[in-house]
Amino acid sequence: MCGIIACVGSNDAVDTVLTGLKNLEYRGYDSAGLAIQNGTDLVVRKRAGKISDLTDGFVRELPQGISGIGHTRWSTHGPPTDANAHPHTSASGTVAVVHNGVISNYETLRSELEGHGYVFESDTDTEVIPHLVEHFLDNGLDSDAAFREAIDRLEGSYAIAMMIEGEDTVRAARQGSPLVVGLHDDAYYLASDVPAFLEFTDEVIYLEDGDVVTVDEGSLEITDLDGRPISREIDTVDWDPEETGKGGYDHYMLKEIESQPESLSNTIRGRIDPEAPAVHLEDFPPGCFQDVTEVHFVACGTSYHAALYGARLLEEANVRVRTSRASEFTGRIPDPEGTLVVPVTQSGETADTLGALRAAGEAGARTLAVTNVVGSTVAREADEVLYIRAGPEIGVAATKTFSSQVVTLALLVERLTQEIDGAAAREDLGAFLEALSVLPNQIEEVIRTSRAEALSSKYDGRDAYFFIGHALQHPVALEGALKFKEITYEHAEGFASGELKHGPLALVTPGTPIFALFDGKHDEKTHTNAKEAQARGAEIVAVTASERTAAFADDMLVIPDTHPDLSGLLANVQLQFVSYYTARSLGRPIDKPRNLAKSVTVE
Ligand code: F6R
Repeated sequence: MCGIIACVGSNDAVDTVLTGLKNLEYRGYDSAGLAIQNGTDLVVRKRAGKISDLTDGFVRELPQGISGIGHTRWSTHGPPTDANAHPHTSASGTVAVVHNGVISNYETLRSELEGHGYVFESDTDTEVIPHLVEHFLDNGLDSDAAFREAIDRLEGSYAIAMMIEGEDTVRAARQGSPLVVGLHDDAYYLASDVPAFLEFTDEVIYLEDGDVVTVDEGSLEITDLDGRPISREIDTVDWDPEETGKGGYDHYMLKEIESQPESLSNTIRGRIDPEAPAVHLEDFPPGCFQDVTEVHFVACGTSYHAALYGARLLEEANVRVRTSRASEFTGRIPDPEGTLVVPVTQSGETADTLGALRAAGEAGARTLAVTNVVGSTVAREADEVLYIRAGPEIGVAATKTFSSQVVTLALLVERLTQEIDGAAAREDLGAFLEALSVLPNQIEEVIRTSRAEALSSKYDGRDAYFFIGHALQHPVALEGALKFKEITYEHAEGFASGELKHGPLALVTPGTPIFALFDGKHDEKTHTNAKEAQARGAEIVAVTASERTAAFADDMLVIPDTHPDLSGLLANVQLQFVSYYTARSLGRPIDKPRNLAKSVTVE
């Protein structure tokens, strides 16, 4: 959801900013731009389209400098045009700003500035910022004071980086949108996300809301808005820069699907002991959940589907549980004292999920975030945090993080059901943990043997694609459909198997493919529902471990036999491949589907 990058003290600011932009492209790819301080001039280049359009265009003629700012955009105000691309500049061109977030009072500021004679060139909310800074410079303030005065006038959310002509300094501020500093010898980096500069450094400072940063060659100062110094810890991130590259794959999505054996191994490492049997979650000592009486998940998109999986497990263990789409969360929590609110979010920056987290906190509930990104806003704002440890995910379509979320939630569920009064803890815990310990190998097997590529070409070009499942296979069916529509642009829907006959069956015509997911425990129900659709011409692809179950079906995607509560994760890998190969044969931009962004930091 827009990515910003800045560097100071790098020998080659153009290359550094472009590298950062390429690394951040998953946050938005409507337009891109940069500003470089080249001696006395501030040179700005920007353009609608992908970063490659920027580099194939004019960026190569840019002279060199030691500091610069860059931006990759996901449009919120105004269409993706050259004029709306960042950096935005003041009328005289001496102030350049990149911004992620939404300035909610921009209309008021814009009409005020227009009243002073400033002329706007874009439809964006961001453009008020350089004009405001210039306005304060025109009124005699120095660069630092003008920046702070401008920031003080902004309402809404922002991560901003700004440069002024003739200065190598980058000034930045954070309020409600992520911003992180990277440090390496005399060079400094600022970015929306760590992967932006991971090949340059692994030393980072996670900024907090209200922080104002001034970066010069060899110096970094963090203060509050009034200029009072703030000290922030330096962290070392242990993500491997290689991990954020494509590693020989055509797409990040395929790499990330196929890295699930490894990412899942990381998720469970040190957390399960099938012999005891026991689940150990770091930072959550025995007894820490005994006051919980109800669990409320809040999440969006794929993370919401993972939350539904966790919720179903809790419901089956007789625990009171609710799941809300974060954007629909009302903030009403009948018993805040006993309620554990669990925001589930890969990025930890999703605005809707953060909104729900804050509302839950205000209502007085205990909050425990389940996220992938260390130092993300959700990790810092929730009372407690449990990491899914999937490693960086770059493809916009979430794949490996879904599996790691589901497994992390399944482990959390085990701990909760052991401690919540009246909950029915799993009797087969040893068998479940044993099955979990071999799941990475079984995913490896699915990757090695999947027939999804051939099957996808067989079902190319149909009018609609349906995915059905019962119990824990229901969220997987929803996830399969989301992934399919997201990257193929074809019509796809996921349903609880039993719901087909209550309406969706009207959409089934001869040749409609239906992917039916079987878990080995509730197969009869899904079998009946799939047959009802087959009788109306649907072609059924059974995703199952059992040839017998699949005997009626038109096709089968095989998954290894596992615990019924885990088979959805194996089925999901098959469905990820189906989406991937269908999108590939349609020539879709798989890692960057149209209109979407990896991290959705606006409501
Ligand atoms: C779909 C997808 C999105 C995200 C959603 C929430 O493939 O990735 O639906 O799951 O935008 O994002 P996070 O998990 O970062 O809160």
